[in-house]
Amino acid sequence: MNSAPNQKRKRIAVFASGNGSNFQAISDYCMENDINGDIVFVLANNPSAYVLERAKKANIKSVCVDSKRNISRQEFDREILRITKSENVDLICLAGYMLLLDCEFFNEFQNKIINVHPSLLPSFKGMHGIKDAFDYGVRVTGVTVHFVDYELDNGPIIMQESVKISEGETVEELETEIHKVEHKIYPLAVEYFCRDELRIVGRKVSILERR
Ligand code: GAR
Repeated sequence: MNSAPNQKRKRIAVFASGNGSNFQAISDYCMENDINGDIVFVLANNPSAYVLERAKKANIKSVCVDSKRNISRQEFDREILRITKSENVDLICLAGYMLLLDCEFFNEFQNKIINVHPSLLPSFKGMHGIKDAFDYGVRVTGVTVHFVDYELDNGPIIMQESVKISEGETVEELETEIHKVEHKIYPLAVEYFCRDELRIVGRKVSILERR
């Protein structure tokens, strides 16, 4: 499906701290489909993040602001805000970005930041969603894509998909299943955003039907 002629193409930034398989999934999906948006840059907070290699291979601009470098947290936050504003982005996709954004960033990009989380929120928030769900012994976990607000893993939910945990399954196997689902639903949520198909009312997000 083509973009509606009167829709502005969205400029997407992807923030990541590590491997970047979700960046890859979004980038591949953008190559294969006209989602009315383009990834204009990738930001990593760690120079050894593999996402930087992936961005290079995909010919997408990347920027690394090393959060462990000799700068204060305030300076780091100011720098990522400056870079992101200078790129005129419409959407920021957090994809395994393991730092919290500060208030100024949220105020500047309200309702324009989305995240993928490897559990069915509000269960198992935090950095170890897959292992925490596995260790808890739940039979069903899953993936959530949500808008980001001031609280950790808390904003309005765009999409969720469940993943069953079968008898005898290992945490590594579960991780593989979770990533497969992430790579399927995160690009779709990005497409909904870029096509202006999401409406937020309070905590609820509706996805408009495509005409
Ligand atoms: C993904 O599983 C993502 O859901 C998770 O980090 C991983 C990044 O993988 N994010 C969180 O846990 C955020 N709380 P990737 O670098 O291969 O995309």
